[in-house]
Amino acid sequence: MKKFLLFPAIAILCSSLIILKAQTPFIWAGASASYQVEGAYQSDGKGVSNWDVYTNKYEVTKPLTGKVQTGNFSINAYDRTQYLKDIALMKELGITSYRFSIAWTRILPEGTGKINEKGIQHYNQFVHDLLSNGIEPMITLFHWDLPQALQEKGGWMNPASVKWYEDYANIIFRSFGKKVKTFITFNEPQADLFLLTPIIDNIIQKKQIPFIISNEQWSERATAAHHLLLANATVIRDFHKMNMPGKIGTTLNLSPAIAQDPNNPEDVKAATIVDGLFLRWFLDPLFKGKYPADILTLFQQYNKDLKPTAEDYALFAANKPDFVGVNFYAPQYVTQDKYQTFGVSVFGKNPDAVPMFNGPVRPEYLYKLLMRIKNDYGNPVMIITENGAGFGVQDDTLVNHSVNDVLRTDYIRRHIDTAMQARKDGANLQGYTVWSIFDNFEWIFGYDRRFGIVYVNYDTQERIPKQSFYEYKKIIAAYKKK
Ligand code: FCB
Repeated sequence: MKKFLLFPAIAILCSSLIILKAQTPFIWAGASASYQVEGAYQSDGKGVSNWDVYTNKYEVTKPLTGKVQTGNFSINAYDRTQYLKDIALMKELGITSYRFSIAWTRILPEGTGKINEKGIQHYNQFVHDLLSNGIEPMITLFHWDLPQALQEKGGWMNPASVKWYEDYANIIFRSFGKKVKTFITFNEPQADLFLLTPIIDNIIQKKQIPFIISNEQWSERATAAHHLLLANATVIRDFHKMNMPGKIGTTLNLSPAIAQDPNNPEDVKAATIVDGLFLRWFLDPLFKGKYPADILTLFQQYNKDLKPTAEDYALFAANKPDFVGVNFYAPQYVTQDKYQTFGVSVFGKNPDAVPMFNGPVRPEYLYKLLMRIKNDYGNPVMIITENGAGFGVQDDTLVNHSVNDVLRTDYIRRHIDTAMQARKDGANLQGYTVWSIFDNFEWIFGYDRRFGIVYVNYDTQERIPKQSFYEYKKIIAAYKKK
């Protein structure tokens, strides 16, 4: 008798779960990062970050742009009068969520120790202002701007960085954890630790680009990545222990590695290495609880101190992220190159007629990537936390007070289409985020690379929605109706 009653009960439960899942609204978002947009680099008790030093003291934008550019003022997004206007534009766009990062130095000016209440107040007000406009905040805890005080202690190379970050993250959870549904622990550690940091070190030492990073240097950086991944798992554990109502995930740049010549076994081998260095080195510990054996062996040849322990692996395995943030711009064409690190070139050719800043336009690789995460990593919740494009002046020129960015418009449309196809085919994709809503400070490229769907006049701070803004608005509206 009992068995019979159980059946309908299970059926009802399953169908209500299906309804619940179907009702989870898809996230439509736009992204930014503190150093790229905020400005106000000395306001309200903010401490000095590594990026304040890179730009002001070491003038890191100079080799690539010929100019000294900084985020000191940027697009003035710290200023409430300005950001309220920006939020009004976001509302017009129809996004349901806004991804931004917190500047660690506004919360803890020295990186650890005394809390700067004004910093907390600022982000509290910002969170409140977003919510009262119907936009959910999506907070990144760390998007590359490390307190300089910690940088001087070795940054992520210092094992104490796990604890520094944990203390900082706990302050953020206590302050915003009840109101914010989505947290991102880290943004693109691969790009930060393995590319940008060595490039900047090179600029600081030799005042020039290009650079070659030795196998030893790269493998040494794997120690920094290991600390960062331990910090990642630690704060995911804390977040879950604190019973926070939201979700916490990690954002990776997942540029698929493609052999430039698929018929050349050397290129194919090189692509496997690049895939290991950039994708598996992070995805495997996050979702499989351990490093990929081939890359660990490679690093250990040059870095004898890299010795993940059984406890480290247990920590990874027990504290998986609730979702993976997928940053996708383009695949990278890989070749064998004996003069480069590990004999591989990660800067393959871009065969497109009009090159995009971040590589060739190949939306089909976004589809493949999402399906690969589904198939190889247990189909975790995925949120595209960045996708966007910049093609230079031919696409981004202001004419009669408008910007007809045909290429970006096409790029965004095609990437959303392909992402939605992957969702239909079973990838657990729950959100799409464009990088970026506003043009902003593009790291070592300064203000010379525009990625926004809204044009920013850097002299007047005027905002002018581009063609891609109206296209994205249309797409969001159409999907919301479905
Ligand atoms: C990503 C970064 C982001 C921005 C875009 C263009 O790698 O996460 O801050 O610079 O590229």
